[in-house]
Amino acid sequence: MHSATAQAFSNIAFIKYWGNRDNALRLPSNGSISMNLDGLFTRTTVTFNLSQRDSLVINERAVTGKGLERVSTMLDLVRGMANISECAEVTSTNNFPAGTGIASSAAAFAALALASSNAAGLTLSEAGLSRLARRGSGSASRSIPSGFVEWKMGTGDDDCVAVSIAPPEHWNLADCVAIVSASHKKTGSTEGHALAGTSPLQNARVADTARRLDICRSAILKKDFEALANIIEHDSDMMHSVMMTSNPPLMYWQAGTVGIFHAVREWRASGSPVAYTVDAGANVHVICLAEHAKETEKRLRELPGVSDVLVARVGGAARMV
Ligand code: DP6
Repeated sequence: MHSATAQAFSNIAFIKYWGNRDNALRLPSNGSISMNLDGLFTRTTVTFNLSQRDSLVINERAVTGKGLERVSTMLDLVRGMANISECAEVTSTNNFPAGTGIASSAAAFAALALASSNAAGLTLSEAGLSRLARRGSGSASRSIPSGFVEWKMGTGDDDCVAVSIAPPEHWNLADCVAIVSASHKKTGSTEGHALAGTSPLQNARVADTARRLDICRSAILKKDFEALANIIEHDSDMMHSVMMTSNPPLMYWQAGTVGIFHAVREWRASGSPVAYTVDAGANVHVICLAEHAKETEKRLRELPGVSDVLVARVGGAARMV
């Protein structure tokens, strides 16, 4: 019986991944940049044993069906690499409050890649782990390296991996995640990526990516908050423009989401270092200089439609526990 436990942080994309050039291998249509979130993590234990099939327990509840299949697909890759055939017991917990619409496949598949490869006796490099995590969930490739991370498009499976561009201590940023209640069930990212190409705006967004990556990377390296603010809002708006103009259309924003956009831009215009970005949901990630996190959290809590605010700093790499 071989067991291993690993922990990985979630991440928030500054330049978004939306659409794949190869859905099976999860090779993205464009490169992306993110920051790990130290407050939001998943801890996963994988035990290869003599059971008849793989099993999965998340936050003390047994998971079957599609959720388990997705985990088994990654375990199959690991079994193939390690040349073993044992089934595995996977138990996972995350520290995000339930029912907030925060379900991070990034933290989950990064922790699973690290725990399962170790439990199988493999010692993968950071690039190898990032590549494996990517196969479970694209954004998980970015939760393997530390701090501020760029996921390179690469030319194929081998070099399509994420690398750290700066450690967490490089720039003391915070993410104040404003939870905006979404009543209806949203389309998950995997289905969303498959629709990206149906929007006539996707080609233009993809063609422009190198420009946005350059601006974002250099804003991070120079710690230029104003430049970072402008590019992340622009990039988030571009991705949501593609989503809204896909067929069928995806509209993730709620009234509360848009209310926060206006508030954040007003706050910035009057001198506060804050900027918004939104993933495939209604919640708004408000990025700010860490010394402004308390004030930003307080202001967000006063806005209509905001039910909670979670605050995270810049997180490190995925690690064994
Ligand atoms: C909008 O990585 O969740 O958050 O590979 O299908 O699991 P799958 O998709 P996922 O997509 C993330 C989309 C996004 C933008 C981003 O994180 O870059």
